[in-house]
Formats: sequence, C-alpha cells, structure tokens
Amino acid sequence: MKRKKTFFISGIDTNIGKSYATGYIASQYMSKGYKTITQKFIQTGNVGFSEDIQLHRKIMGIKLLPEDYVLLTSPIVLPYPASPHLAANMQKTTIHCESIANATRALERKFDVVLIEGAGGLMVPISENFLTIDYIQQQKYPVILVTSGRLGSINHTLLSLEALKNRDITLNSIVYNTYPKADKYIENETARYLKEYLKIHFPNATFDIIPEINIDQNKTD
Ligand SMILES: Nc1ncnc2c1ncn2[C@@H]1O[C@H](COP(=O)(O)OP(=O)(O)OP(=O)(O)O)[C@@H](O)[C@H]1O
Ligand SMILES: [Mg+2]
Repeated sequence: MKRKKTFFISGIDTNIGKSYATGYIASQYMSKGYKTITQKFIQTGNVGFSEDIQLHRKIMGIKLLPEDYVLLTSPIVLPYPASPHLAANMQKTTIHCESIANATRALERKFDVVLIEGAGGLMVPISENFLTIDYIQQQKYPVILVTSGRLGSINHTLLSLEALKNRDITLNSIVYNTYPKADKYIENETARYLKEYLKIHFPNATFDIIPEINIDQNKTD
C-alpha cells in the first residue's frame, strides 16, 4: 500500500499562487497513480462553496467530487473577503479548528494524498490568539511553501522559513511560481538564491517549479 501523505500548502503572501500550485501538485500526484484530493482549510469571500476548490478541480481537469458537495473539502466558508479571524468576527462566530481537522482526517481515510491549502500566509490569524502556523504545528503537517520571483520574495520567503524552523515544522518543498513574469534578472537570482539557501538550511526540502497554467485548456467535461 502507498504511504498516506498530507501536506499544508502555504505561501509567502495572499495571491501568490497557492491555489494554482495546489491544483498543479494534485494533478502530478494523480498522474503517478495516487488517489489525491485537495482541501481549502478556511475559505473567505465565498458563500456556500469555495472558489479555490473549484479552481483546484479545474486545474486537475476533473469535475467537483462528492467530498466537495458535502463541504468536507471546504469545512469553513465565510462571506467577508478578509483574514479568517476578521471574517469570523464579522459573522459573530469563531472558527473551531477541530472541525477542520476532522474533515481532513475523513479525507485521509479515503485518499492517498491530501493537499490542504491555507488562507494567506503562515502568520495569518484564525482567531485572536491562534495563528495558521499554530494550527500547522499542532497538526504536525509538513509544509509546501509557495513563492515567486517578484521583487521582495527573497525577504518574505526567508521570514517564512525562519518561522517554520523556529517551530520545528518540516518544510517539504519550496514551490517557485513562474507567474506572473517579472524582471528576468530578479527572477533568476531569486530562484538561485533560494535553492542555495535550501541546500544549507533545509537540505531535505526540494525546490519545485510551477509553470504558467492556462486553465481554459483544462477541460473538465
Ligand atoms: N502558475 C500560474 N499560471 C497562471 N496564472 C497564475 C499562476 N499562478 C497564479 N496565477 C494568477 O494569479 C492569481 C492568484 O493565484 P492564486 O489564486 O493561486 O493565489 P492564492 O495564493 O491561492 O490566493 P489566496 O490567498 O486568495 O488563496 C490567479 O487567479 C491567477 O490569475
Ligand atoms: Mg487560493
């Protein structure tokens, strides 16, 4: 039997390409024969469904799964497009992480690989006194960190790596998103620098590249 794998996909910032990376990595696992599903641990800015899950399925080239319809893949969906703690406050509710962890465990029972997409970056608050990185540490998930070649990425990436190291969280990989195209000298230097940094500080982590993806070419029917 193949070993079960669950990863938490975080990024150096919101809008860095976590959803694209999650869908792309899921399709890679699928093509290697792993039964694979993705989950959005907290979705804000939607009502009753997760647009990130829809995007994952589109990139994976599949239709919505039964687990999507029963919201196992998006256990917390809040309408206000903000950090989870604020989106929850706006609804006069609090986020119970145990319900997210239960949903993930249900997916783990049925799938070989579960890719959990975060919301924003590592230090995003889930509630007043509990951060996304606290949840990752508590659940012992290895992290896939999405970055890019835009100006500022080296700084944001090293800050994220420092935070992971500080809490003994395993870094599985850095995923370098090649979209959007930026200054090619900055892009090349960012990739080179981060690869060298990993070799020294995280020798067991890999450096993977996400190409530009045209989702209109991914037919789901
Ligand atoms: N590899 C890629 N190929 C094509 N477009 C991309 C790629 N990566 C990112 N994009 C574009 O950038 C936007 C932001 O990417 P994405 O939605 O994956 O970010 P995110 O980190 O998941 O954001 P959020 O924090 O809101 O979940 C996408 O809507 C898409 O237009
Ligand atoms: Mg996303």
